[in-house]
Amino acid sequence: MTFLGLAFILICLVAGLSRSKNVCEKIEQWKNRTVSRLPHLPSDPVTSSSPAKETQEEEKHLQYALPTLQSKTSSRTSMGLKRLEKSNWLTIDTHYTSEHQVRNYLLRTSHPNVIQCLPGSEAACHEVLSIAVDFFITRFPNHFTMEGETITNHIANESFLVGPDCPNPLEIAARLAMEDFNVLMKNAETGKYHLQASATLFPAGWKLQERIGTTMANLHGPVPSWKEKMGGAVNRYFDHLSAKTAMERTNLFIQSNPDLFSDAPEIPAGHEKRTMPQELQVRRERQTFTRLEKTGAVLFTVRTYMQPLDDLEDEEAVALIHQVRGWEEEIKVYKGWDVWGQAFEKWCEKRFRR
Ligand code: HEM
Repeated sequence: MTFLGLAFILICLVAGLSRSKNVCEKIEQWKNRTVSRLPHLPSDPVTSSSPAKETQEEEKHLQYALPTLQSKTSSRTSMGLKRLEKSNWLTIDTHYTSEHQVRNYLLRTSHPNVIQCLPGSEAACHEVLSIAVDFFITRFPNHFTMEGETITNHIANESFLVGPDCPNPLEIAARLAMEDFNVLMKNAETGKYHLQASATLFPAGWKLQERIGTTMANLHGPVPSWKEKMGGAVNRYFDHLSAKTAMERTNLFIQSNPDLFSDAPEIPAGHEKRTMPQELQVRRERQTFTRLEKTGAVLFTVRTYMQPLDDLEDEEAVALIHQVRGWEEEIKVYKGWDVWGQAFEKWCEKRFRR
């Protein structure tokens, strides 16, 4: 072999090694980016299990990734809908086991706070479970399998009856998924969409028992300008939503603690313990909207992601600062600026000196 040939092989080897190092670093970064924190669970020992090894490689490629934070130009809230990639309707990722334990704990200890199904919503709840089960067994066949009318979740080692005889279909859907499920039905008298059933394990500052059965306007009571700017458009959007035009949107909150179950707005200024910059979290929801083909109800799913501000990559941290500082005054107040605003500014100062 000539000297040139030997040099060429050496260069290829070095390039290959550094590329695989880059890939490893990227995977590490990605893992850190989607960290969710668990609420503090007083004295609830749980056993932990992890997804089957042979599927971890496959998952890496299949996993849905929450879009990175962008600096938004608009300071107003908007519908911000985009078409849903159906193969990513429901998600499974590395936080499944830990969040599953939290979900089980909440279902055991706070059932009426997290599950509400009003009479008349039964058929829609069965339809939700049926499409969720179909999705899981086809999209994640290594994790979920069916035998007769029983689904087995191999990640958590649990089995559930899921056919027409299942007594609590929405709860079972919520036990299988990482998403929360909300069923909205058009009320014949009011002509408006009402929240008729919900499995909301990770609420962002609201109480399910206070809002079940109410209209979209009532659900969004505290949201600034909902009535004037968004309410009408959302009702029209729901009227035109079809099974083929499923959509998704995301939202963002700053939270002064890592609790996924957060059923009250943050404590008003003056009464709270001092929020420390290092405690701040960014809470994001990925929401999807689907029309149920059989019952015609609207299905609204919510996946919650929680991440400490300190864990954000520089680019995302800058985008977040742009977004938050760009919020209109009334949106800042609604999102709890009075509670975490000072700590947020301190955090910005510490991280970027700005
Ligand atoms: C296209 C449809 C929808 C749009 C555009 C929308 C928009 C919003 C916005 C802008 C907020 C304020 C927080 C934020 O910045 O995201 C919000 C909060 C909320 N949304 Fe929606 N939403 C929609 C559908 C729904 C549905 C179907 C439900 C049913 C459960 C729902 C329940 C809530 C609740 C409970 C809050 C918290 C209100 C509070 O702070 O008390 N939303 N929504």
